[in-house]
Parts: sequence; structure tokens; C-alpha cells
Amino acid sequence: MVSGESAGEDGANLSLRPTKLAEVIGQDRIKENLQILLDASKARQEALDHVLFYGPPGLGKTTLAHVMANEMGVNIKVTAGPVIERQGDLAAILSNLREGDILFIDEIHRLSRAVEEVLYPAMEDFALDIVIGKGPAARNIRLSLPRFTVIGATTRLALMTAPLRARFGAVYRLEFYDLVAMQQIVTRAAELLDVPIQPDGAAEVARRARGTPRVALRLLRRVRDYAQVRADGIITADVADQALSLLNIDRLGLDEVDRLVLRTIIDNFGGGPVGLETIGASISEESDTIMDVYEPYLLQLGFLDRTPRGRIVTQRGYEHLGLVWPHSPQAPNQPEQGKLF
Ligand SMILES: Nc1ncnc2c1ncn2[C@@H]1O[C@H](COP(=O)(O)OP(=O)(O)O)[C@@H](O)[C@H]1O
Ligand SMILES: [Mg+2]
Repeated sequence: MVSGESAGEDGANLSLRPTKLAEVIGQDRIKENLQILLDASKARQEALDHVLFYGPPGLGKTTLAHVMANEMGVNIKVTAGPVIERQGDLAAILSNLREGDILFIDEIHRLSRAVEEVLYPAMEDFALDIVIGKGPAARNIRLSLPRFTVIGATTRLALMTAPLRARFGAVYRLEFYDLVAMQQIVTRAAELLDVPIQPDGAAEVARRARGTPRVALRLLRRVRDYAQVRADGIITADVADQALSLLNIDRLGLDEVDRLVLRTIIDNFGGGPVGLETIGASISEESDTIMDVYEPYLLQLGFLDRTPRGRIVTQRGYEHLGLVWPHSPQAPNQPEQGKLF
């Protein structure tokens, strides 16, 4: 079998992934907690406790799962909620695990109830309940499983059932990265990709990568292309700014869809409140995508607010788009209350 360099982004990203906890940049509190978890289970020579990572996409959940396996020196089996359709699928995976193995379940909130029911005793008692035979002759038998660890990842903690959540001994929420960490991530990736970059060039990419390593790596690739084709190959602040402006990524990292979400709420719904489903339908975007990818960063910037009646664009959101907030005293003409269009 040939195992050459993969040209795709996934292949390249894999080689950019940190493999040791110490190489993971940022997320200091989580790293410290994970280190304690690792040290304790190594000292006791036991499998790790079950761990759940949650937070917006691209912040390092999958990376941390692999890092944990690597640090423990154990195998990791990777699967995802939607892939495990039947109880039998999960039973097959579980019965192939070995002592200490990690089972990584991505998008764990998408497991079906029936499959979850198989997972509960597996996580809690390391037991697999199966039914043998049919009708009156059917009987339950319980197989014992080796001690293994589930690492779950989800962008939607709220969609996880309470009993499943309760089976994780450690639950960590990944946060957006601060600018210092983002700049380190960009600089490290540029080094690994062998791209010449100046510190202020890295800072510019970092600033516009919405606190998300995956976005930073994607932007870095586009800026590298631009630097090669339109400049002398070196990423300076100017080169980064030109490349990112050409991609319609503004100085805070908002792209066309982010701005469209804000504009739609403002232009069509008087700034809100309006439900996500309605926004999604207006711009032909899945409301799930808006909730996972766009909303968290807009909330973080304080451009969007969640209210019980729906989302509203804040004063800062209006100002970022160069618009006057209609509720400010200087607004030229106050729109009537409740006026929508
Ligand atoms: N803390 C970090 N330090 C360096 N690179 C990171 C870090 N977190 C994530 N990455 C990079 O960002 C990309 C996305 O991370 P990933 O673990 O796939 O995110 P998630 O699973 O949360 O969607 C990966 O290619 C990884 O190399
Ligand atoms: Mg992932």
C-alpha cells in the first residue's frame, strides 16, 4: 500500500495536529485538568474516566481525544453518533475493545435512544447486555467488557440526554482562543508548513480567525497562496490584510454569512427578536449550521443576543455594519415599535 503525502486539507491538518498535551496551545485550564486525569489513571494503572468535550466546531475536541490516547499509550477507535445506527453496531464496536482502549464518539448528541441504552451499562458497569433467541425462549445475557474509556465530543451539550451526560466523569467546555494563543497557533502551523511569516502577519491572520484554530489554519493556507501569487511569498501584515479582504473576511473575522445573518435580522425583522429557524429559512442556511458555526462567535463578540423570544442584534452589531442602532437617542427617525419591514 502506498502511503504518500495527502494533498487534501484533512491530510495536511492531521500532520498539524498536536500529539502531546504540552504541544496543545491555549485551553490552559482544560489542559491542567486533563494532565491530572492522565497522571492519576497512570498511577493507578486504570483506564481513564469517561471524558466529554463540548463547544463550537474547530476548537480542538477531536485533537484532544487523540492527544489523550497518545499520552496514555492506548488505541483509539473513532466513530460518530450518526454512524451507529443500531444497537448491534455499537455492540460490535464494544465487543472489539481491549483493556484501556479509548472509544471516541464524535457528535455524541446524535446517538439514538436505543443505542444509548446499550451504552449506559457499558460505560457504567463495563457490561454488554444482549438478547439471545426470540419469543418465549429469548433470554438476556450479560457479557463483561474490558475497562475502556469513552471520549465524547459534541457541539450541542443541550441536545444530550441527562442520563448520558451523567455517565461522564469529566466534562469540559472548550472556549474560543484568545489572541495570544491564536497567534501562537498560526506561527506554529506556518513553521510546520514551511511558510515564511512575520509576527505582525501572524497577528493579522490570528485576529481574523474568530478564535478558532481550524479557521486559522484555513486562512493561513489562503494567505499563503496569495503571498506566493501576488507577493514575494512572505506573509506580512499587509499581505495578510489584502488576502483576507479579498476573501471578504472583515477585520473581526466575520464573513459574508455572518454579515448576512445580522443584515437579515436587521432588514427583515427590525433587529429582532426572531427565531433561528426563521433566520435560517430567510437566508437558505440550515438553522443547525447557524447555531453551531455562526451564532457562537456573534454571541461572543456581543453582536447578537439571545432572548426568550429569539435573537436580537445589539447596538455593537449595528455599529459594526456601519448602521445606527434604532434605539439610540441620536437615531434619525425612531422606527415605530413592532414595525417589521
Ligand atoms: N490547541 C490547539 N493547538 C494547535 N492546533 C489546534 C489546537 N486545537 C485545534 N487545533 C487544530 O485545529 C484543527 C481543528 O481541531 P479539531 O480538533 O478537529 O476541532 P473540533 O474537533 O473541536 O472540531 C485541527 O487541525 C488541529 O490541528
Ligand atoms: Mg472534531
